[in-house]
Amino acid sequence: MKAYRLARNALFALDAERSHELTLAWLSRHPASGGLLSGKTVEDPVRLMGLSFRNRVGLAAGLDKNGEAIEAFDRMGFGFIEVGTVTPRPQRGNDRPRMFRIPSEKALINRLGFNNQGVDALVKRAACVRRHAVLGINIGKNADTPIEQAELDYLACLHKVYAVADYITVNISSPNTKNLRDLQQASRFDSLLATLADARETLTARYGARRPILVKIAPDIDDDALIGLADAARRHGIDGLIATNTTVARDAVAGLPHAHETGGLSGAPLLKAANTIVAKLRERVGPDFPLIGVGGIQSGADAASKRAAGADLVQLYTGLIYRGPGLVSECARALRGTIYATPATRPSLES
Ligand SMILES: Cc1cc2nc3c(=O)[nH]c(=O)nc-3n(C[C@H](O)[C@H](O)[C@H](O)COP(=O)(O)O)c2cc1C
Repeated sequence: MKAYRLARNALFALDAERSHELTLAWLSRHPASGGLLSGKTVEDPVRLMGLSFRNRVGLAAGLDKNGEAIEAFDRMGFGFIEVGTVTPRPQRGNDRPRMFRIPSEKALINRLGFNNQGVDALVKRAACVRRHAVLGINIGKNADTPIEQAELDYLACLHKVYAVADYITVNISSPNTKNLRDLQQASRFDSLLATLADARETLTARYGARRPILVKIAPDIDDDALIGLADAARRHGIDGLIATNTTVARDAVAGLPHAHETGGLSGAPLLKAANTIVAKLRERVGPDFPLIGVGGIQSGADAASKRAAGADLVQLYTGLIYRGPGLVSECARALRGTIYATPATRPSLES
């Protein structure tokens, strides 16, 4: 879309995080501009996890960490919007600069470190926003909470977001919070999920509604650990998995400016690895367990490849920066009426 290309040229002349802040501030003040930039919302109703999605395309976590522009993203035509990651207390995140573009590869590297205004501020905004899209809230731990006490942070957030979220995502896969990915280790994962499942029982009784809980996982994981996570998630009644977060791998961008920066790589170079994780998960969990695929989508064809790998729904982040809001309807159209592949028709992981 021409209007977005012009805006992008101006934004790309600025530091990556600064242009992110300006865009979010604009969308927050002018929610109607979300709809103007993206075209007509694609209606492709889907029922999953007891929720009704107007299409299969969602906003990935981290773009609107504080829920400041939910209405603008709603008007952009997303079927669902995931805000956060939010932590119990506000925190500044890592020192700047901490977000870098690699334009030739349509990629970003970030080490923001869960900079956010805290769960209370997010809940206050989410409670009064008008929207049609499903709202997910992604929860995490504060940087200064020892990993041994991480469960308490997730519990505190779960309790606070329960009344306003349609679903809750437990983020244990950001590479930018020290030791966070240790929570993917079997013993810690098991204990965290048991605690959250227990708390959800109480909350279900209190609110008369059982909210889906999903877990978001990293792409940098070996097969045994992946299978362990998938099995534990099902054992504890987790409702779905989101694959994947950013990667710490750099092979796809080696030698390019900023490739050496510490943090998580997102965008086009992540597509293949993230799709492989989705395909492996689908193989393990069977046809009915909800999977949300995220990582590297830059076109409708990329979204279709993720669906073919086994995703029920997809999410976008970096593609939105490079392609603009038109990507939302392009992907939703590409996924309209699709069914994901059976093992016999699924493309080979090597292709
Ligand atoms: C700048 C930036 C910040 C992010 N922050 C979060 C976050 O707070 N929580 C989270 O679960 N994922 C976060 N992510 C990961 C995205 O949600 C997504 O999983 C990842 O970027 C892969 O998708 P993409 O290639 O479409 O960007 C962030 C990604 C980027 C680029």
